[in-house]
Amino acid sequence: MNYNDLNWQKKMKLTTDYNNMMSEYVGEKEGFTEKELFGSLDIAKKAFQEVEAGRGKGMMGWTELPYNQDDIVDDIIKTAEDIKDKFDNFVVLGIGGSALGPIAVFQALCHLRHNELPKEVRKAPKLYVEDNVDPERMNALLDVLDLDKTMFNVVTKSGSTSETMSQYLIIMDILKKKFGDKAKDHMIATTSESKGNLIKIAKQEGLKTFYIPDGVGGRFSELCPVGLLPASVVGIDIKELLAGAKYMDGICKSSDIKENPALIGALLQYLSMKRGKNISVMMPYADSLKYIADWYCQLWGESLGKAVNKEGKEVFAGQTPVKALGVTDQHSQVQLYREGPFDKVITIIGVEKFRSDVTISDGCEDIPDVNFLCKHTMSELINTERKATEYALTTANRLNYTIMLPEVNAFTIGQLLYLFEMQTAYTGAMLGIDTFNQPGVEGGKNATYALFGRKGYESTKEEMNSARKKKDDYIC
Ligand code: PA5
Repeated sequence: MNYNDLNWQKKMKLTTDYNNMMSEYVGEKEGFTEKELFGSLDIAKKAFQEVEAGRGKGMMGWTELPYNQDDIVDDIIKTAEDIKDKFDNFVVLGIGGSALGPIAVFQALCHLRHNELPKEVRKAPKLYVEDNVDPERMNALLDVLDLDKTMFNVVTKSGSTSETMSQYLIIMDILKKKFGDKAKDHMIATTSESKGNLIKIAKQEGLKTFYIPDGVGGRFSELCPVGLLPASVVGIDIKELLAGAKYMDGICKSSDIKENPALIGALLQYLSMKRGKNISVMMPYADSLKYIADWYCQLWGESLGKAVNKEGKEVFAGQTPVKALGVTDQHSQVQLYREGPFDKVITIIGVEKFRSDVTISDGCEDIPDVNFLCKHTMSELINTERKATEYALTTANRLNYTIMLPEVNAFTIGQLLYLFEMQTAYTGAMLGIDTFNQPGVEGGKNATYALFGRKGYESTKEEMNSARKKKDDYIC
């Protein structure tokens, strides 16, 4: 196996190039000097120490995931093999952290048209991740599924999220009507072992269950059964994914900002935020990485967007994450990135070697303005355009940095996910906030419970009912 080979690992190491965050390149007004970076070493060191001290504790159980899941991984692989044998569709019912990781990893590591491939080529079930309660979407899904050939996986750590539990109720009812006692053979539950309603329901119904460790929050859960089971079902090597995360964890054990890409990334973002750069654009130049940007947006936004710091002082911290796709968004958002307000840090993700290539055909010999493209490959074109965007941003004094993946494979994706998780943890520590809670998200959940009449939420309902009524005057 390649991923155990140290030389191969080295070849697959991600690189972070932050030249374009530095004043020599992006200009003195916007860029950072070496002196400033080294003058902030204390901030980096403190954050590093806080994260190191927190490893495996409280809500930092995710730092253990590359190391402590051997038995779970075996169970997942065995279950996935069984699902592959019996089913054509695997449907994840979940939202937020229970959905965005599975979507991102599926898009990154499976054929980009996986679900449309014939079964003999696909060699794995189709994957659907249902992360909304839009009735039309639910009906559309039911229109295309052959239930005899479908396994569902309901994923919710709290076991009470309204969206996911509604989906569960709808699907379980349909399954029971169709399969009676055998309905349980079409549903897996992935949830907390120690709390919540889903674990009780799963036990009552006799469902196969996977557990989300207590110390692993939704947005940090891709490398536990939440993400590993769907990945394994669609044929992704989850041991390689975890090996990539472990490799990056090893790199992140260094407190040297020149060695630890998550730490320098965090420091640069933190210092940028201090200068009013309130927007973090994530722009991969590869369709396979498109949904890594969505996953990052949740991780960065939900972790760092906090009203108060750990001392309870109002800080209103955070950076608004924005997803973009290279080259697609060069023809829309890049205009704003290059000429709009100086309020962004743009993270570009590039891929050195694409898994397949296409040569641009010869033609239009008499039209040099078209013919110049001929005989180049599409990978050359996308990577040239990535460099061109870097150049265009840098010459317009726009802060940007680039993370390069030598290839897209399970090992490099494991590294990338873990790198962003560590970077988020360091940045949260620098900001002095609780990176791992989400009172804002829970506020919305509670308001839904109240409006739908859930027991225990009567006072929230009363509070909401007594809120100022909207004026017709302001509606037109
Ligand atoms: O990161 C988080 O904790 C949230 O975004 C959750 O993932 C999301 O709200 C879903 O929660 P649950 O897994 O409890 O259904």
